[in-house]
Amino acid sequence: MTKTLFPDNFLWGGAIAANQAEGAWNVDGKGMSVADVAKFKPNIDKKDYKAQWHVSQADIDEAKTSDDEVYYAKRHGIDFYHRYKEDLALFGELGFKTLRISIAWTRIFPNGDEEKPNEKGIAFYHDLFDEMLKNGIEPLVTLSHYEMPLHLVEAYDGWVSKDVVTFFNRYTDVVIKEYASKVKYWLTFNEIDSVFRHPFTTVGVLEEKYSDKLAAEEAIYQAVHNQFVASSIATRQLKETNPDALMGAMLTKTTTYPETCNPLDIEAAQKANRQNYFYSDVQIRGKYPKHVLNHWKKNNFKIDVTEEELANLEKYTVDFLSFSYYMSMVDSHEKANKEIVGGNLNQGVRNPYLDMTDFGWQIDPLGLKISMIDMYDRYQIPLMIVENGIGNFDTLTEDGKVHDSYRIEYFKQHLQQVGYAIDDGVECLGYTSWGCIDLVSAGTSQMDKRYGFIYVDLNDYNEGTLKRYKKDSFDWYQEVITTNGASLYGEGDE
Ligand code: BG6
Repeated sequence: MTKTLFPDNFLWGGAIAANQAEGAWNVDGKGMSVADVAKFKPNIDKKDYKAQWHVSQADIDEAKTSDDEVYYAKRHGIDFYHRYKEDLALFGELGFKTLRISIAWTRIFPNGDEEKPNEKGIAFYHDLFDEMLKNGIEPLVTLSHYEMPLHLVEAYDGWVSKDVVTFFNRYTDVVIKEYASKVKYWLTFNEIDSVFRHPFTTVGVLEEKYSDKLAAEEAIYQAVHNQFVASSIATRQLKETNPDALMGAMLTKTTTYPETCNPLDIEAAQKANRQNYFYSDVQIRGKYPKHVLNHWKKNNFKIDVTEEELANLEKYTVDFLSFSYYMSMVDSHEKANKEIVGGNLNQGVRNPYLDMTDFGWQIDPLGLKISMIDMYDRYQIPLMIVENGIGNFDTLTEDGKVHDSYRIEYFKQHLQQVGYAIDDGVECLGYTSWGCIDLVSAGTSQMDKRYGFIYVDLNDYNEGTLKRYKKDSFDWYQEVITTNGASLYGEGDE
């Protein structure tokens, strides 16, 4: 195929998050965030994602009195805070049109509830955006990516409290106004649907503080409602500041297949997909789906929802839907004795038609096209893929090379499907691969689960030179971008 399936202005790029890349956790006035509490746990099975993510009050107490930067790996990241110029030059060389980053709330408001922002934090992101623009890279900014101020968890109960909405929108008001002339594309909450999978990191809820499972569930629904409200207010702030800027929702897209054509399996899969869409339904349609309201009623959940909030949800919906895609899932009405696999804290029945990564995540390129068509048909607004990639072990050879043919194959197969989805009528603004440079894993807080086109010489124990090396996939992705995707297709790929 010589013709590309991608539009001329397609935003090719990569994605990182502040808490996994910047490091400098206590530099220039930055406060402590929930990410600074996450520990690398070498003795827990890497596939036991839930145990890897889990944080208790005792863990928080320990973290607050510790200066450790080995096991609290997100405290060091890849030192992007000091090395961003070098990294952006490499992204520029790759030909990136965009880079997704996040702003660390704790650099701007260290505790979250201050009246005035931290000037050094503001200056850092000005410099960062200037440098991106210098390299021809359009910033795509997530306002909250698993890095809320720890103080707000302890003093206010996290997002369960409406005060946190006020504090968050004070922060969004500052950054939206500050960076209005430099940033056009914004996202509110990373993977907003992940609140039930890891509530501490997303909404600052420690489940064990609640009397039982239902009480914790009620609190999490309150917290996510408050995030919807905060998202609508941030959207209003953006539109008032720059009507041409675009706000996106961000969903973990996990399309669930039924295990068989037994209607009971279809029903199980439908339930999972409906729950996955609940979050984007609210942010795009501006209304709560009835099934969620019924669920609250049946369980006697008392969620504090005001008329004014509902009016804002309806008025300030998002402009586009961004999403992460790593895998599809399989559900069955009868899971006993079935092999269960996971990834990104989701669990499902093993799909016998799919391969897996080194970390047990199932690989389903066609599932990406299926998901894109499904989302676009549902909402009819532009999509953007803001995370996709393969976390694997890499080997740096003595001559400074990484031969990551498995990564090239992964991206090739997924990107081909993105092209096919576009060809099938889906409007897609861009694609940013996850962890375009190796960074600390969100789930396991380790370095050796690598996603990048650029290898960072640092191991799980914070040992290494931090030197950057181009992997084989670097040259490959560069060609994809240069040809606007045409190089993805060869003979027989049409
Ligand atoms: C997404 C997150 O869920 O998955 C990223 O938004 C994360 O922050 C990515 O890094 C991959 O997960 P992990 O645990 O392999 O880093």
